[in-house]
Amino acid sequence: MKSSPLTMPVMTTKPVLLCLDDELRSAKRLAQAADLALALIEIHRFPDGEIKLRLPNTLPAHVAILRTLNDPNEKLLELLLLAQTARTLGARHLTLVAPYLAYMRQDMAFHPGEAISQRIVGRFLAGLFDAVITVDPHLHRVTSLRQAVPVQHAIVLTGAPLLSDWIAAHRQKPLLIGPDEESAQWIAMAAARHGFDHAVCRKLRHGDRSVEVELPAMTVTGRHVVLLDDVASTGHTVARAAHLLLATGAASVDVAVTHALFSVDALQVMQDAGIGEVWSTDCIAHPSNVVSMADTIAGALTRLQTSLA
Ligand code: R5P
Repeated sequence: MKSSPLTMPVMTTKPVLLCLDDELRSAKRLAQAADLALALIEIHRFPDGEIKLRLPNTLPAHVAILRTLNDPNEKLLELLLLAQTARTLGARHLTLVAPYLAYMRQDMAFHPGEAISQRIVGRFLAGLFDAVITVDPHLHRVTSLRQAVPVQHAIVLTGAPLLSDWIAAHRQKPLLIGPDEESAQWIAMAAARHGFDHAVCRKLRHGDRSVEVELPAMTVTGRHVVLLDDVASTGHTVARAAHLLLATGAASVDVAVTHALFSVDALQVMQDAGIGEVWSTDCIAHPSNVVSMADTIAGALTRLQTSLA
């Protein structure tokens, strides 16, 4: 098991941020911005695949855990072990900071017998935490995060304004396009900030890697288009939209997403479709990260701490 000075017992009454070492960089930035003590959780993986976690010996009353939930399955089990252990070590108010919140897309049974993962995972997290802070969760058929994660403090932040600032600094008179109707909320926000022209496509999904996209009825000839969405995963949605936009005369197509989920060949799929730059926030660590959400998340954590004081 690894040891680090950050794993020393926490002897402070200051709220503490707990993290695992794969998120240490983001955690350091967040702890500094929110003025939190930082402690590293030790994790041991047994040969049979089980895990053991070790937290600081004692914890203050207010504890936040940073765990972004890409590749979520093992992380959800970690959260179960972590949250329950933190309570036994003194935590009275537990906040989950999950910049990317998984399982939000399966919000209904599309076929009889399907698990409604959003509801099940949401209730699971609500049973462990008093507050959940996330960024641009994929809420489609529910209107608030609290409906999906019925926790006392369900806090939604957005990466759209900062992505909009990045786009404004890197493209002249861009045309913002959302690859599907669900992206309208982020497109509207990002476009309003700098007065960008904007529109959304319609999407029909046939399978994980098979989508049809219908472009909005507008001319894109000569325009520098930026496709903006909450998430790209396989990259096929933005790739299909980019292919059509370039075929109908767009001068360039770049992509900006909050969550760089990006499966193994996603960047290749996007590049093959003619996409130029791919930009993302650091909600999920990826080489495409250009925007840091640390200050935004720190602001939310600070407001939450103040409201609890
Ligand atoms: C869903 O509607 C999301 O906003 C994205 O459009 C979707 O998850 C992208 O998936 P993929 O990159 O696999 O096409």
